[in-house]
Amino acid sequence: MPADKEPLYEQVANETALLIRSGTFRPGDRLPSVRKMSRQKKVSISTVLQAYIKLENRGLIEARPQSGYYVRRQEENESPEPNISSPQQDPCQVSIQELTMMVLRDITNPRLVQLGTALPNPDLLPSSRLARIVISLTRENPSLANTYDLPPGLEPLRVQIAQRLVENGCKVTPNDIVITSGCMEAIDLSLRATCRPGDIVAIESPIYFGMLQSLEALGLQVLEIPTHPRDGISLDALRFAIAHNSIRACMVISNFNNPLGSCIPDENKRQLVALLARHEIPLIENAISSEIHFSEQRPTVCKSYDLRGQVMLCSSFSKDLSPGYRVGWVVPGKAKAEVEWLKYTANIGVAPLPQMAIAQYLKTGGYDHHLRRIRREYAYNVGLMSQAVLHHFPSETRVTRPGGGFVLWVQLPEKVDSLELYKQALESGITLTPGYLFSASLQFRNFIRLNAACWTLDIERAIQTLGRLVDEMARS
Ligand SMILES: Cc1ncc(COP(=O)(O)O)c(C=O)c1O
Repeated sequence: MPADKEPLYEQVANETALLIRSGTFRPGDRLPSVRKMSRQKKVSISTVLQAYIKLENRGLIEARPQSGYYVRRQEENESPEPNISSPQQDPCQVSIQELTMMVLRDITNPRLVQLGTALPNPDLLPSSRLARIVISLTRENPSLANTYDLPPGLEPLRVQIAQRLVENGCKVTPNDIVITSGCMEAIDLSLRATCRPGDIVAIESPIYFGMLQSLEALGLQVLEIPTHPRDGISLDALRFAIAHNSIRACMVISNFNNPLGSCIPDENKRQLVALLARHEIPLIENAISSEIHFSEQRPTVCKSYDLRGQVMLCSSFSKDLSPGYRVGWVVPGKAKAEVEWLKYTANIGVAPLPQMAIAQYLKTGGYDHHLRRIRREYAYNVGLMSQAVLHHFPSETRVTRPGGGFVLWVQLPEKVDSLELYKQALESGITLTPGYLFSASLQFRNFIRLNAACWTLDIERAIQTLGRLVDEMARS
């Protein structure tokens, strides 16, 4: 409905919701009193009251007796989280290719409300700054595109990455780093350097479907390990798995697992590295979302506890600077020579221009400032989406409370099949990622992953629609 055809109170509610979304009013802030708002907006007191009641029903604000209306705090969301996962206990082949390709087709369709991708919020990427750097680089150095940049990749970029890793407690030099085409290539090269077809890889469960796709493409078997929505992989379960299986490698998303949002606590990271080192099992660590932490403290990486070169740290700038530049890296430890050679045989090297642009961006400053901003924004958007889900979905719904990143993992009532929900949501112009994609054994039937990077009125309406669909499916 066009804005001027909406009832007045809806308009006031939507304008106020926009102020909350944009951060003008933050959680815990008092909204203007009903009387003041009615003067400001030149509407009646009952219109403002209706608008505030509407926002209260949406879960955005709350009335406090004798005090007025306040923006709800996200910490007040004390609803239960999903339990630790309980995957099947035997190794199996991955076969989610068909399902993944089907979902990927829809999650790149710009006409749909995109809750299905894990792409960052485009408004929170420094695109114009990077574009200006690219223009000046090509002007100053037009021959940049006339040559290859061979592995291990551009030195000034490796220097910048090494400096940040040292700050994060890793003993790493620029020579220890290989630049890759995104984090996915770093993972793929690490798997190819350590495993042969048929080998068993122990993984967190659930885990990002891209990593499952790499395992599937390489003909590897996976052993899914129970994973806690806050603390990540269960060390007891991993110990048991190692004692009963011949595990060739272990793979985790150490900080803010996609889709769980879990972050392995420091002590567990130390123990995980020590356990795997005792059994000479390499750890492939995906740390792609490490910089997007909501608390003050940047989480450590498992690599910082690695004394024997057995941790292969994989990451990229896809979540915080640009997914399209395809610049990532791996610190392969002992397997450096093998990874470098595999990188060369795969595609010679990474394009020099995006490497140079990112190196320059990191060097000329502004990255930390940028990170501080996006951390605040993502924390805020994740909080708003989780409140909206809890408000609009049936009461049995459980939502994770990630300490970083920007995805939510939602456990729906038992009866709801996420693939069926996916199909119905598509008909309403909305995408989501069905839980099936995050496990080799097609678990997580009644789970979905939502992208909470953006918060707009369209997205709020989409969450409302999803809530209605879930409710209907749960009752049918
Ligand atoms: C956990 C995780 N790893 C890797 C990737 C892909 O990274 P890249 O684009 O750098 O290859 C994603 C993208 O969504 C992701 O969520």
